[in-house]
Amino acid sequence: MVPDSPCPGKQGACSENHHLTSPLQTAVVIRIPLAETGSRTLHNHLYAIYRRDNSMNTLIIYKSYSKMNTEKVAKAMAEAVNATLKKVEEAKPEDLTGYDLIGIGSGIYAGKYHKDLYKLLEKIPRLEKDMFVFSTAGSPDEKYEKPMKELLAGKGARVVGEFRCPGAAGLLGLTWANKGHPDEQDLGRARTFAKGLIKG
Ligand SMILES: Cc1cc2nc3c(=O)[nH]c(=O)nc-3n(C[C@H](O)[C@H](O)[C@H](O)COP(=O)(O)O)c2cc1C
Repeated sequence: MVPDSPCPGKQGACSENHHLTSPLQTAVVIRIPLAETGSRTLHNHLYAIYRRDNSMNTLIIYKSYSKMNTEKVAKAMAEAVNATLKKVEEAKPEDLTGYDLIGIGSGIYAGKYHKDLYKLLEKIPRLEKDMFVFSTAGSPDEKYEKPMKELLAGKGARVVGEFRCPGAAGLLGLTWANKGHPDEQDLGRARTFAKGLIKG
């Protein structure tokens, strides 16, 4: 049985093993029956393992318009962790509720994440969630992530990761830097990064 919340209404130990489905968790339960431990803490710990292994609900919102580089990265991450993927143009503030982990991605334009992402996030008073940021840029640099991380932290978010990679840069069909990026290696790094967040 797949639950969507930790044993609602149970203040003491949970004697039903209905949250625990993986072989590892089953093994733990056999060795330490929850009914015998009387431990709510243990129960919650096992539930946290369950969520990370099986059902961490992830949303990725991104802006990409120049060479669609950021879209490639966002898609690779979403496929790797079975995340919901939304273009910022399609996202509404209420869409961010109900997720355990939210990623915000953008190309870097004149030194910044795209303004549409700021417009969306500024409509949300509090964002007390695990979040991560990612970007593609002509010259990837952590300085580009900083203002977005500060905005998220100011809303109560825990920024649990950041990822950046080179993106082909150019306009009107011309490319003057990073031709072919993000390439397969970049996308592999993006997948590994996203999986790392889910596994904790
Ligand atoms: C209008 C514009 C401004 C840019 N400004 C920067 C910049 O300040 N720093 C940088 O490293 N790259 C810059 N770039 C390169 C982009 O960040 C890079 O091509 C990125 O991968 C584009 O993402 P996208 O294809 O998802 O839109 C700029 C590109 C454009 C089109």
